[in-house]
Amino acid sequence: MKIAETNRLIISKITLDDANFFLELVNTPNWIKYIGDRQIKTLKQAQQAIKNGHLKSYQTYGFGFYKLQLKEENNKNIGTCGLIKRESLEHVDIGFAMLPEYEGKGFGFEASQTILNLAKEKFNLDKIVAITLPTNTNSIKLLEKLGLSFEKRVKPFEDDEELLLFAIDL
Ligand SMILES: CC(C)(COP(=O)(O)OP(=O)(O)OC[C@H]1O[C@@H](n2cnc3c(N)ncnc32)[C@H](O)[C@@H]1OP(=O)(O)O)[C@@H](O)C(=O)NCCC(=O)NCCS
Repeated sequence: MKIAETNRLIISKITLDDANFFLELVNTPNWIKYIGDRQIKTLKQAQQAIKNGHLKSYQTYGFGFYKLQLKEENNKNIGTCGLIKRESLEHVDIGFAMLPEYEGKGFGFEASQTILNLAKEKFNLDKIVAITLPTNTNSIKLLEKLGLSFEKRVKPFEDDEELLLFAIDL
């Protein structure tokens, strides 16, 4: 189901039919390096992750992570962007990931701007945060370009590294 459109992208809810794409995305080198190895290695595990993650989030909060489809390539799935409510963080956070060949082409910025707009206008959120590894300079640049500012260091996940928390008031 389409939730928004930008110049180059269609932003839609992820479904179980996107399991192949999700499996590819979560195993790209930068996902593994900067987000982590989710141990999703089979189509079945990808379907399970979509069911327990994306679909559950849409149902519980009305929002979640969306697929980004590139209009000029026959609506090919090229990445994800969306909103997530984590138990360990007070505010909803924004996240994004592109397939390697679509990084650095402005798609993250284009999609995130629309997602931030939806966060305010559709989901009535007044503050959005984002967490990133301090070494993820591409993510930090994108967050700053979107108008988020560094707020503090956090450790939202047990046994994990310290992350930087960025925030924006909508
Ligand atoms: C982080 C990520 C989503 C950025 O999305 P993107 O579509 O590549 O970002 P954009 O092209 O919109 O770039 C936004 C800004 O970030 C910087 N940037 C992003 N990717 C870059 C790259 N590959 N090389 C150089 N600069 C880059 C630039 O400053 C750019 O601004 P500019 O276009 O005015 O120069 C993407 O690099 C990615 O998928 N990384 C792997 C997954 C990940 O780390 N997700 C974030 C977890 S916190």
